[in-house]
Amino acid sequence: MSVSFIWLGHSTFLFDIDGRRAIIDPFLNDNPLSPMKVDDLPSVDVVLITHGHGDHIGDAPAVCKKTGAVAVGTPEITRWLKSQGVEKTFEGNVGGTYRGEFLHAKWTQAFHTSSLPDGSYGGQAMGFVIRGGGKTLYHAGDTGLFGDMALIGEEGLDVAFLPIGDKYTMGVEDSIRAIQLLKPRYVLPIHYNTFSAISADVSHWAELVHRNTQAQPIVLDPGGTFLVE
Ligand code: NI
Ligand code: MN
Repeated sequence: MSVSFIWLGHSTFLFDIDGRRAIIDPFLNDNPLSPMKVDDLPSVDVVLITHGHGDHIGDAPAVCKKTGAVAVGTPEITRWLKSQGVEKTFEGNVGGTYRGEFLHAKWTQAFHTSSLPDGSYGGQAMGFVIRGGGKTLYHAGDTGLFGDMALIGEEGLDVAFLPIGDKYTMGVEDSIRAIQLLKPRYVLPIHYNTFSAISADVSHWAELVHRNTQAQPIVLDPGGTFLVE
């Protein structure tokens, strides 16, 4: 069993779980950090979408149409994707789980807003607890800090993906408090340095993680890969 992933900048990860692929929050063509555009993407079977903002759902229609992947999101998200011509969708909501062949993804709350690219209501923003290949990963989506991250931590996280860019999500200081609640083995920063409005000093962040938590900070360059061991 094996789990690895490539960070494509912002909140986008391409996962390889036992040789099968999934992508979360596909933001490629308009993402200045992503070395991979929709046309470069290998086949994926599952597309997870945390919420409706363009920097998370933007390329989901194109990726689903190119690959035939199933799109996993809340009813508001999947309804919009269907209106964009996406054929395979799976809807759920907080506490529910998508159970696929090689990964399970449970919706968790996130504290954030959500609207679709056409301005329509996007439902509640979400995170996901992802299980596959014998590992448990938590992608927080866009969110501020919340105390119930302690409950998510009780699931035993190998990896947490947490925003640190501030302004639209928690920033560096609150991400440290989040790590203290989540207690992951590894933590990766997301949603930073994509645009100047969300710039963050990632080496300072890594130093704070070392100093204040038990987690190991993993800072990838866009396009960088990590094998979860
Ligand atoms: Ni957002
Ligand atoms: Mn965002």
